Amino acid sequence: MKKEDLVKKGYDKVAPYFKMFRNLFHNEQELKYLVELLPENAQVLDVGCGMGIPVARYLVQQGYSVTGVDISEKMLELAKQNVPEADFHLYDMNDLDFPDTSFNGITAIYSLFHVPKEKHFKIFQNFHRMLRTKGILFFCVGPEGGDDVSVFLDKAEMFWSNYPPEKTLSLIKSAGFEIIFDEILDRGDELQYWVFARKP
Ligand SMILES: C[S@@+](CC[C@H](N)C(=O)[O-])C[C@H]1O[C@@H](n2cnc3c(N)ncnc32)[C@H](O)[C@@H]1O
Repeated sequence: MKKEDLVKKGYDKVAPYFKMFRNLFHNEQELKYLVELLPENAQVLDVGCGMGIPVARYLVQQGYSVTGVDISEKMLELAKQNVPEADFHLYDMNDLDFPDTSFNGITAIYSLFHVPKEKHFKIFQNFHRMLRTKGILFFCVGPEGGDDVSVFLDKAEMFWSNYPPEKTLSLIKSAGFEIIFDEILDRGDELQYWVFARKP
């Protein structure tokens, strides 16, 4: 089975339980920083938006126009209920085809690591294409390189894939971004490699 199909099936299955697992506000500090970097009335694309909270909802509360995309229909159903002000679409992040320079910001929080790492560079290039000049990319991936398939939330098989942070950093730069911030941070008792980057 294609890894993306395994992930989609997994999230469709865990969707009703995801909220209990998601520590809703452990990303507040980073989200506040994102707001400092974005212009007023920004157009933001939230990639792998999940159930829409906390990220899409927080962004809507800032007065931004938010588009959320996710591969799981069940997660999107929740997002539509949770954040009716945002616009949600079923999309595999490998296939995003929004017009060039559509967004001031793109977020991919706890989502890129579900795509095989060999595809990350193409995704970064596509993010760059869809961002306006000075647009901000904010995402996280795992703190170590490798691929893993294991049981998620005791309910479904799940796939994770990461390059080591140094490699992710070099891919981001090669895709045309300048780095604003990159660090491995502990959020909700979980280490992830967090990156803010800008399209020059
Ligand atoms: C751990 S959840 C995070 C959700 C949300 N970003 C948050 O911070 O709560 C990962 C989400 O990424 C989505 N996802 C995984 N692979 C994807 C892909 N290839 N394209 C779009 N969404 C994907 C999953 O369906 C799931 O909703």
